[in-house]
Amino acid sequence: MAKPSFFIQIIFVIICIVAAAIAMRCEDNVGNNGLYGWDDTKKMLRDIDDIKNAIGSINLSKHTAKDLPMFDIRVDSLPYKCQTHGPYSSCAEITACTERSGYYYIRIPQYNNESFLVECDAHTEGGDWTVIQRREDGSTDFYRTWAEYKVGFGEVDGEFFIGMDKLFALTNYQGPQELLILMVNGTNEAKGYAKYDSFRIANEVEKYKLIRTGQYTGTAGDSLKGHIGAKFSTKDQDNDVHAEGNCAVLYMGAWWYTKCHSSNLNGHYGDKSYAKGVDWYSFTGHHNSLVYAKMMLRRKRG
Ligand SMILES: *[C@@H]1O[C@H](CO)[C@@H](O)[C@H](O)[C@H]1NC(C)=O
Ligand SMILES: *[C@@H]1O[C@H](CO)[C@@H](O)[C@H](O)[C@H]1NC(C)=O
Ligand SMILES: *[C@@H]1O[C@H](CO)[C@@H](O)[C@H](O)[C@H]1NC(C)=O
Repeated sequence: MAKPSFFIQIIFVIICIVAAAIAMRCEDNVGNNGLYGWDDTKKMLRDIDDIKNAIGSINLSKHTAKDLPMFDIRVDSLPYKCQTHGPYSSCAEITACTERSGYYYIRIPQYNNESFLVECDAHTEGGDWTVIQRREDGSTDFYRTWAEYKVGFGEVDGEFFIGMDKLFALTNYQGPQELLILMVNGTNEAKGYAKYDSFRIANEVEKYKLIRTGQYTGTAGDSLKGHIGAKFSTKDQDNDVHAEGNCAVLYMGAWWYTKCHSSNLNGHYGDKSYAKGVDWYSFTGHHNSLVYAKMMLRRKRG
């Protein structure tokens, strides 16, 4: 049994060295401060206070889509086998590797070298979807300015809008895009959907005009077709063809208004007064508001 005792000796020597080092450090403190480590302890307590204050002042709800913290707990880490690929340009590419839904960064080089966080849906109807808008509880104000709609706002894992510039990039640089809108009616919780097989908008110079929607299929009815060719309007930019006033102001939203709308998915959450709510006319009528709406894009298949 020579071997174990040899190891015990080695461990004993290591313990002695560590203990000696600690003792020397304590002696230093005794020498400098009389009471060993007290100043260190006070400093440590101050540091802990600073950390607590810093954590308290982090306001998670104030981060918008464009200003996410560097280490965002919502971001799903890529499995090792998916990390070698470099920046992905779409949810389809990412979920083909990860095989699950999640929050991931994508990058569209023609739009911007900086990547942005999106929710990827790998489940609904075969997956590959990028979520571009969601209404679910009225916690986010959607009655916003042109500048805010341009860059997007809200929480990527809650109520949010991706932003018109990114919507332009998604619908112009990655082939024809299918748009799927899932919705739940406010009064009786009926579920419906509207799907379009070629959704595309123009850029900011053309006021993000709704260029086309393609073929409709679904259960909620087609309340978007009538908006083809319309420019986008917000409360501070009236690009509609309505003679009296700004549709965005009249109906408290931001949309491709004409004179004015048959859909208003950025409307006033829960508002049942005429046409102001989160309306999809063929599904809700104009005196009701969807309790839930989600818009998603993916490259057209087949
Ligand atoms: C956090 O953000 C919310 C929503 O923007 C705001 O109402 C609230 O006052 C903020 N709280 C702090 C401590 O900044
Ligand atoms: C994006 O990156 C490429 C290569 O790194 C560079 O050539 C290009 O100028 C960049 N574009 C923008 C808009 O920064
Ligand atoms: C949605 O709710 C409104 C108000 O009750 C109702 O008129 C409409 O028929 C409902 N739509 C569907 C599809 O259930």
